[in-house]
Amino acid sequence: MTWTPSDWRQLPAKHIPEDYPDSAALAAVEEKLKSFPPLVFAGEARRLKQRLGEVAAGEAFLLQGGDCAESFKEFHPDNIRDTFRVILQMAVVLTFAASKPVVKVGRIAGQFGKPRSSPIETIDGVTLPSYRGDNINGMDFTTESRIPDPERLTQAYSQSAATLNLLRAFSQGGYANLANVHRWMLGFVDRSPQGERYEQLADQISKSLDFMKACGVTADSVPQMSQVEFYTSHEALLLGYEEAMTRIDSTSGEWYDTSAHMLWIGHRTRQIDHAHVNFCKGVRNPIGIKCGPGLETDELLRLIETLNPNDEPGRITLISRFGSDGVAQGLPPLARAVKKSGRTVVWSCDPMHGNTLKTDSGFKTRPVDRILSEVRQFVDVLSSEGCYPGGVHFEMTGQDVTECIGGAQAISEEDLSSRYHTHCDPRLNGEQALELAFMIAEKLQSVGASGAAKLKAG
Ligand code: PEP
Ligand code: CO
Repeated sequence: MTWTPSDWRQLPAKHIPEDYPDSAALAAVEEKLKSFPPLVFAGEARRLKQRLGEVAAGEAFLLQGGDCAESFKEFHPDNIRDTFRVILQMAVVLTFAASKPVVKVGRIAGQFGKPRSSPIETIDGVTLPSYRGDNINGMDFTTESRIPDPERLTQAYSQSAATLNLLRAFSQGGYANLANVHRWMLGFVDRSPQGERYEQLADQISKSLDFMKACGVTADSVPQMSQVEFYTSHEALLLGYEEAMTRIDSTSGEWYDTSAHMLWIGHRTRQIDHAHVNFCKGVRNPIGIKCGPGLETDELLRLIETLNPNDEPGRITLISRFGSDGVAQGLPPLARAVKKSGRTVVWSCDPMHGNTLKTDSGFKTRPVDRILSEVRQFVDVLSSEGCYPGGVHFEMTGQDVTECIGGAQAISEEDLSSRYHTHCDPRLNGEQALELAFMIAEKLQSVGASGAAKLKAG
């Protein structure tokens, strides 16, 4: 293949800012980034691909989540730790229920750039360019702050490196040891119904660990008990940055985007002959494709063919994001067509981006009921099409925010203003995320049971 990381520059591209005041300064920053150390190694991206291949085969489950948009302001070790531990908690719930390994992928350590539905924003009669993510411009509603600044790319790189460093320490340095299953609980979730359910499960796990210890099986003899594999991902949106982070892997001689293990193509940038698809075609990382309203079946098949001509397992994750009132209609034709084509994919559900609404008081929110409903319908649709519902993709924070309405705490529209901190879309808080995990666990168990019953009957 004659592909190079800069080929995308010749093609039409949506959602990449063109209004940098000084393009030479941007080019200089991109050049500098090319000399910076890779954030991840090609071998790690290959291992994730192998794990996703196991998901595609129905042998594991994918849990992908984190911030909608990371920000410079919320950059703090406690925030990283809290996001990480909610994902660990969710993974424990799912592993226990599904008796399958859970592949853990964060929307973290690089998830900055945002495609916006409108390039401009008007407040009180003043119109300015929209906020596009901290790696591009600032959120403050001032002319100055909204000007794209290339130095932000360097800051995003540094923050990603420091975040990843802490995540590596958490996942390998003992914190993720299963023996700590009780310690992952967040203070504010402690006394909630989800917290109690989690504690009961953690008790069972502790008892099992005691039993295994008595049998001579400990973290010393089985390292998997004291460490987890944790991978990073973000939307491949700002291609100048992604290009700068793309290097040839010395082992395989192939191109890898070393800014994250996995990248995905967003709902607004999946045009087959445009820049984002061209870029993702050439790098060997696992690639996600958001699948939502407007995506035709033949378009999806062509995307899969373009991005994965050799049908490599784990290369493609299809992320369904139709909304709770669109999934029952939108997903079946896609699932059927992909199944018929015989292509190997992971099917995952993003129950967030099709369920966003605006309240009368102007807050963007998402009702937890709709989020849960979309996941349930996703599992039902895929199961009845004979496909494996392999994962979820969600926006979450470990902080005690009030951004999505409903859930066990019954956050109301009036509550939204109390702790609404997101830089972009409304996120599940720790408790709502745990509730989602318990719901998925139950749902997977129920279709697992009926699947087994069908098998028996057959
Ligand atoms: C996102 O995942 O943050 C996002 C913008 O999603 P989508 O491309 O599906 O709208
Ligand atoms: Co979002």
